[in-house]
Amino acid sequence: MLGEQWLSGELVAMKREIIQTDDGSSTIYIPELDENYHSSHGAIQEAEHVFIQHGLKKMEEKGLSSISIFEMGFGTGLNAFLTKIRASTPILYVGIEAFPVSEGEVNSLNYAERIGGKHRSDFSAIHASKWSEFVEIDSQFSLKKVHQKIESYELDANFFDIIYFDAFGPRAQGDMWEIDILQKMYDGLKKGGALVTYCARGQFKRDLKSLGFEVESLPGPPGKREMTRAWKI
Ligand SMILES: C[S@@+](CC[C@H](N)C(=O)[O-])C[C@H]1O[C@@H](n2cnc3c(N)ncnc32)[C@H](O)[C@@H]1O
Repeated sequence: MLGEQWLSGELVAMKREIIQTDDGSSTIYIPELDENYHSSHGAIQEAEHVFIQHGLKKMEEKGLSSISIFEMGFGTGLNAFLTKIRASTPILYVGIEAFPVSEGEVNSLNYAERIGGKHRSDFSAIHASKWSEFVEIDSQFSLKKVHQKIESYELDANFFDIIYFDAFGPRAQGDMWEIDILQKMYDGLKKGGALVTYCARGQFKRDLKSLGFEVESLPGPPGKREMTRAWKI
């Protein structure tokens, strides 16, 4: 599989491999960066913990009539798939992705087999859906996939209840964790909205605070001590 290199500012071929994580679910590994799309301790386990339990489910406690979600780094579509399956509230979901996975890669990922149940076909529906427009995967879940770099994208202001911030880690792609990107996230959130991420770096949390977020450190998924949830207050 060929991915694309962005760190140099030019798009060049970069190898991607499908590998298995410790919970048996697959992820993508980029040898050149020595970076996974998910935790090697468990892709599904991490996504359920960080984004579903501490993002979606926390927001559902508020009793909103619908929830809008922005995902930074749509990647394999695992977070969208889990959200579709786990949500008990209507969802409007926007996911941005600069370097979409290929059809071959999608077919090699085992998320639908591992957790799909009666929703097995949703994973393919999510990937088959058109880019750049809202598609009703069903009456409870509308999805817009945006094929663009976050650097040149403006989120609708004060629009989202939750941001799943799922960029590559600061070691592999430091630019994604800089203030200008975090400011975009802040601006896109509604008051009372929250950004959730697996990252718990000190500098990142200080930057969030400097933007006005109220920052919570929560227990991380297995293999990680902490994760972060940041509220726009
Ligand atoms: C940690 S991985 C994705 C994880 C993804 N949420 C999933 O569950 O598969 C980070 C993603 O960000 C994407 N990405 C990298 N740079 C980007 C940029 N400048 N703008 C938008 N997406 C970017 C990568 O291609 C990759 O899919």
